[in-house]
Amino acid sequence: MNEWTPPILIGFRESACDPASSGMPVANIFDALGIAVQDCLPSQSWALVQRRSAEPADAEQIDTLELVRPDGVKLSIDFSSGKARHRAKEAGKGIQPLARALGAPGYRKKFGTLPSIIDATGGLGQDSWALASLGMPITMIERHPIVHALLANALARAIEHPDTCEIASRITLLAGTAEQLLPTATGQVIYLDPMYPERSRKKAGSRKGMQFLHALLGPAEAEAGARLLHAALQCPVDRVVVKRPRGAELLGDTGTWQGQRTEMESPNTRYDVYHCR
Ligand SMILES: C[S@@+](CC[C@H](N)C(=O)[O-])C[C@H]1O[C@@H](n2cnc3c(N)ncnc32)[C@H](O)[C@@H]1O
Repeated sequence: MNEWTPPILIGFRESACDPASSGMPVANIFDALGIAVQDCLPSQSWALVQRRSAEPADAEQIDTLELVRPDGVKLSIDFSSGKARHRAKEAGKGIQPLARALGAPGYRKKFGTLPSIIDATGGLGQDSWALASLGMPITMIERHPIVHALLANALARAIEHPDTCEIASRITLLAGTAEQLLPTATGQVIYLDPMYPERSRKKAGSRKGMQFLHALLGPAEAEAGARLLHAALQCPVDRVVVKRPRGAELLGDTGTWQGQRTEMESPNTRYDVYHCR
């Protein structure tokens, strides 16, 4: 029995308490998402909060969008903080298996450039950001409106920051399903990282960001994964790369797939590479 129900979100605009605050481009986000705004931060319920910038002296700072769980735990996406920049540097090594699965070394050798990537399952943008940090142009697709809003806010803030604007400018974010958007998106490689099946998730344990995603999105459905892969394999790209937990079954039934499929493994992860042309 599926006991998951999507959380109902209440909106709270911290900047509304301070008339001097700018409440910059995310100001109308609650209307756009159809979320009712309250005068005070609700406790014991899910909330989407528009926080003032940490540097109130700078009226041009973009507010931060933050998701708050009923237990008070918070999540925002941040590509521009010193901590995030440090993490991106550290992650340089961690992203190499994915970069290899995407074929980056081969492109560099053959064309002297890196491949353009369509990340069709944007999520918290960690993979896209790390790949853009390596220099790859990215089109990122996210279907969940709240996750998309968090990503859009993080990118807007990263564009404004001198240390991260170059990386952020390599990323184009689209709202909608991959099935709708892939036919018109342009890129050389499609990357899919759908939610892991419940069993693998329990084994691996979930980090905070993934816990939020699971609460928002519900359990992964095998049919949805199969549809996603099918849509990707229809596109005129060089390869489709799917991230899976080690030991998991293939994402979808590719009985009709005539091309070559290879696998690359890193400690907890397997990348299934569908070579399309
Ligand atoms: C596991 S997360 C991706 C994590 C991401 N790779 C990262 O580094 O943060 C999966 C995301 O894909 C999105 N997603 C799943 N199926 C999708 C589809 N068919 N179209 C667009 N987005 C999809 C979900 O809403 C979720 O945010």
